[in-house]
Amino acid sequence: MTNRVALVTGGNGGIGTEICRQLAAAGYRVVTTCVDPDKEKIREWQAARKSEGYDIHWVQCDVSDFESCRQMAQKVEAEVGPVEILVNCAGITRDSFLHKMDKANWDAVIGVNLNSAFNVTRQFIQGMRERGFGRIVNISSINGQTGQFGQTNYSASKAGLHGFTMALAKESARKNITVNSIAPGYIETEMTAAIPEDVRNEIIKSLPSGRLGQPHDIARVVLFLVADDADYINGALIPVNGAQFCSF
Ligand code: CAA
Repeated sequence: MTNRVALVTGGNGGIGTEICRQLAAAGYRVVTTCVDPDKEKIREWQAARKSEGYDIHWVQCDVSDFESCRQMAQKVEAEVGPVEILVNCAGITRDSFLHKMDKANWDAVIGVNLNSAFNVTRQFIQGMRERGFGRIVNISSINGQTGQFGQTNYSASKAGLHGFTMALAKESARKNITVNSIAPGYIETEMTAAIPEDVRNEIIKSLPSGRLGQPHDIARVVLFLVADDADYINGALIPVNGAQFCSF
């Protein structure tokens, strides 16, 4: 068991919720961010976790906004403690073919999925360096590896996120900080539920497993990567996609 502080951005989402549960079950003191506490019903979410036996803190933060992240970091470190585990999980889709895509939908996806990695990680990296310990996990996507129809914004953000991972891993390796990416395939969440039904059915039919993955399939890899003794797995991209996309 450990009691290190773990911050999960977007920890109240489909994959994030399971990451929070599993981290809390392993003893981590877990904090999630949320953008709009009322709209996201974060108090109800927190109460539901409490009823499952998990005490999870939350803090309001727009991860696409640097100043909001600065304030969030001050609050978390003052109220809970220094962040030693960071899971950059907040992500959105705004799918459309490029020839129909609004600039607002490009900017929103790059802001939440990619700029957030800088905005959030920048708040904690110096402390991790000074303490000589840190575990950072970035939730990328299979669609950052392969590209996907309607997702020039999302695919670019998720591929960019892994570039960020590799560079920061090199910068941090001598400080006992690891930085890794996970590339989920199609996981059963609200995000995949929002894919038009006919397209979603085609995608599921094309999967070697014939089914969507589950949030716990991702959370278990997060737990593996953030362990104290997972100190030589660094700069990696771990695919979790039911054999959908295999490569050397
Ligand atoms: N594979 C093959 N063909 C596709 C396709 C796909 N995934 N998506 C769209 N097309 C084809 C359509 O079949 C259609 O072909 P025809 O013209 O021959 O009929 C053509 O592209 C135009 O498609 P639409 O009529 O649907 O056009 P649209 O502009 O209304 O919508 C779209 C296009 C936004 C791409 C829409 O089809 C869509 O939302 N597709 C799903 C995109 C997707 O997979 N998103 C993943 C979200 S989950 C996620 O991102 C999580 C993760 O990390 C994995």
